Amino acid sequence: MSRRPRKPPAARQGQIARIRRVLPAWFRRNRRDLPWRRRSDPYAVWVAEVMLQQTRVATAEEYYRRFLEAFPTVRALADAPLDAVLKAWEGLGYYGRARNLHKAARIVADELAGKLPTTAAEVGRLPGVGPYTAGAVASIAFGRREAALDGNVIRVLCRAFRVGADPRLPGVRRRLWKLAGALLPARRVGEFNQALMDLGATVCTPRGPRCPACPIRPACRAAARGEQHRLPRRAAPPKLPHYDVAAAVVFRAGRVLIDRRPDDGLLGGLWEFPGGKVRPGESPADAAVREAREELGVTVEAGEELIVVRQAYSHFRITLHAIQCRYVSGRCKAIGCTAWRWVAPDQLDEYAFPRANRRVIEALCRRRG
Ligand code: ADE
Repeated sequence: MSRRPRKPPAARQGQIARIRRVLPAWFRRNRRDLPWRRRSDPYAVWVAEVMLQQTRVATAEEYYRRFLEAFPTVRALADAPLDAVLKAWEGLGYYGRARNLHKAARIVADELAGKLPTTAAEVGRLPGVGPYTAGAVASIAFGRREAALDGNVIRVLCRAFRVGADPRLPGVRRRLWKLAGALLPARRVGEFNQALMDLGATVCTPRGPRCPACPIRPACRAAARGEQHRLPRRAAPPKLPHYDVAAAVVFRAGRVLIDRRPDDGLLGGLWEFPGGKVRPGESPADAAVREAREELGVTVEAGEELIVVRQAYSHFRITLHAIQCRYVSGRCKAIGCTAWRWVAPDQLDEYAFPRANRRVIEALCRRRG
């Protein structure tokens, strides 16, 4: 038997009405001047929201400007080679976002006549578009009445509605989506969603929230009880596993060997120095020699360690040992990679590398003067 959605209790309704009333006026006076707010085409909104999924606003601003300069339309992005898209994304991390954006641009350009779909459900079918991005694009670009629950909004809601359970739990997350939906006004929904985001980013901050400056303080149940510092509930971050990784920096006649990672998976499609995890009992130098053989079929001889780089990813940490190697024999074959090149060090800038490899390149350039 299907049940009609339960109406929120009167107190909750009053709270919702108050937030709806005061937040838009606050936003008009306090909205951040961000580059993606100066353009209204759906493609630009979409790019911004994908970039902002795992990147801070301050970092995203410059990347966003450069990305839209390089790929000003969905057609331009669809026509670009993946290498160029990854190069524009280099340093932002979570490269699956760039690969999916590129894939989705090809679908929109080739199958949807260059027009982004306008509902959250349809946008959500494109590669790389989860519920947050779908809601943000549908509401901001098309004025649809859809919620967009990001980290900032979660914090605001947990405090305003005094949600004490861990928002990472699926049941709690569902409740927050419902709350975010119930809060939406009938009109100017995109602005309302962005007002919640800005409130979370500038006033209702993780540490030291500025409650006296908050327009919804009279409607905030956590502030009423002085509990704003304790919400949202944060579980201790998981301890990340650690791996030692070796990379072979192989030289031959003044050129260095790089290869491209398989398209799927971590850092997919990016270029790197051949390498991989150091096995138990193996030295980084031996691992570098083995990886060069396994990935490319070449025999190299290990020399000095060039640099050691530590890097944290979302689910693990690595210590990367870059080993200078001399080419000995064998023709390169793309065995554990999708392409390889011998490149002059001053051409390395043309390729997209993971951050840890960039540090290796800097060390290489310092060493070679
Ligand atoms: N974070 C994610 N999307 C945003 C937007 N549109 N404005 C500000 N911050 C955001």
